[in-house]
Amino acid sequence: MKRSRILMLAALAAACSVPALANQRLAENKQCFGCHAVATDGAGPAFKKVATLWRGRKDAEAMLVRTIRQGSSGTGGPHWNKATMPDQAERPLVSQAEAKRLAAWILKQ
Ligand code: HEC
Repeated sequence: MKRSRILMLAALAAACSVPALANQRLAENKQCFGCHAVATDGAGPAFKKVATLWRGRKDAEAMLVRTIRQGSSGTGGPHWNKATMPDQAERPLVSQAEAKRLAAWILKQ
């Protein structure tokens, strides 16, 4: 392997070890940003607003994990407007562990 490629891989590994960035990548890979953005509303609410609504509630992480895996119907939603978040039949699959990472990341926005 060429030296430049090794350096590139090392840089990539370093970037991925920054947790916030890795979680944002995960959200990108799972196409969350097709409907959401961190600071502005799209088809879905801004993650900053979601964080403000749920932060401090004991069940926040569990509820967000349910929405992320099952869509709005998993938590008795919609909670924001009439638009519902689809379940995983229409989105890339998100595992329980990935959903937990995404929920924790969203709550920190
Ligand atoms: C097809 C569009 C779409 C995609 C893709 C999507 N969402 Fe949503 N999401 C929505 C809509 C619409 C809502 C608002 C539903 C509601 O009012 O409960 C929402 C709501 C949410 C909420 C807030 C739930 C609540 O009850 O407050 C979270 C958290 C969330 N989405 C996370 C994600 C994550 C993480 C991903 C990627 C894995 C994702 N969404 C992908 C459309 C989408």
